[in-house]
Amino acid sequence: MQILIIGSGGREYSIALALKQDPQVSKIYFAPGNGATDDLGENIAIKDYDKLADFAKENAIDLTIVGPEDPLSAGVVDIFKSRGLVIFGPSKQAAQLESSKVFMKNFLARHAIPTAAYIQSDDFSKANAFIDSLQTPIVIKADGLCAGKGVIIAQSCDEAKEAAREMLSGERFGEAGKHIVVEEFLDGYELSVFALCDGKDFIVLPAAQDHKKLLDHDAGPNTGGMGAYAPTPLIDTTLYEKIKNRVIIPTLQGMQEENNPFEGVLFIGLMIVNGEPIVLEYNVRFGDPECEILMPLIKSSVSELFYSAATQNLKNYTLQLFHKYAVCVVMASENYPYKSSKPSEILLNEPLDTQINANTHICFAGVSREDEKLFATGGRVLACVGLGDSIQEARNRAYERCGDVHFAGKQYRSDIAYQALQS
Ligand code: AMP
Ligand code: GLY
Repeated sequence: MQILIIGSGGREYSIALALKQDPQVSKIYFAPGNGATDDLGENIAIKDYDKLADFAKENAIDLTIVGPEDPLSAGVVDIFKSRGLVIFGPSKQAAQLESSKVFMKNFLARHAIPTAAYIQSDDFSKANAFIDSLQTPIVIKADGLCAGKGVIIAQSCDEAKEAAREMLSGERFGEAGKHIVVEEFLDGYELSVFALCDGKDFIVLPAAQDHKKLLDHDAGPNTGGMGAYAPTPLIDTTLYEKIKNRVIIPTLQGMQEENNPFEGVLFIGLMIVNGEPIVLEYNVRFGDPECEILMPLIKSSVSELFYSAATQNLKNYTLQLFHKYAVCVVMASENYPYKSSKPSEILLNEPLDTQINANTHICFAGVSREDEKLFATGGRVLACVGLGDSIQEARNRAYERCGDVHFAGKQYRSDIAYQALQS
């Protein structure tokens, strides 16, 4: 099978690593990939999605997998499908579950799927009136894609009104903020659940926990994610059943009823409040870095799994998982997430310990290659992934591997998976 992966991050690298173990996969292409993905396949510099579909046709690509949200909300799946190509991901219309918070909240409300009480508005006085009716903190969300920065948790009504004003005026997020959602604050713990969907049927992967803040103890600014672990002990069979019955099944049924069937990865951001799952958001793709820990837990053929999902054949599919834990620690560049950093060479020691060597690996993201040297080029540079028979063992191994990675200005959290270890 020849596979094209769209994207350039650690998520796409980890999908390719899993595909490399799969005897059915003969070649992997990346569009555009990064400075390290060409170790796993071939990078293709085609940005235009029509031209990329031409490439897929000409090179007999059997399956295309889309990593990030931008190509999905730009309609890459529609373009590929109209050319008769097999592609795993949601249509542009279905991708609105992520690309528009207003669409998402209204969808949740239409199908009685639990979510925080809210209003959506493009009108300042309506937003203000609702803000006055809520207890603090108050959550203000920009409608459109804002690279994970479009949510403000205001500690006072004044702060909430100011955030609403800045968004509605276009000052804060441009067009993406001119429509907003104002919602009640939910107090609980967060879980990420990933369901691979074929429009009708689905397969749930082990629940994961991300670490969105830059610094230890969940301090500092929000980031794309500084580390993750799975499976998390914060979920049991009862909660899984509630999530399936109250969230995943009604979501897939609702999308079908609206002639907008959902194919692809449904990434559900949940707040668990008193044992009840409440939807914070949907994403329509794998999380990054959650993908980096989920891929190595899959024992089944990953190409067959994605191909079955992309061809509406999940009904009789049985997923096999390794009974292991995975922890990943993201190493970011010096000025992340504020501004870009000067490229710095990455030096990697081979782990001396055979256990570390066998049970860890690195997923590369923000890297470039020059003269066979790898450089950290900013943002999230790489993720060290550790596997083990317990979260503690997986975490120790991931951190040992971090000790083998050197580049100027590297920063990473030292407390990934702390929630699991204290519970
Ligand atoms: P979202 O993009 O909607 O998932 O929001 C980003 C982050 O903001 C979430 O991961 C939560 O940490 C936080 N958040 C969003 N909505 C709420 C809410 N209603 N109550 C509490 N925290 C929230
Ligand atoms: N790690 C969260 C995300 O990918 O959105």
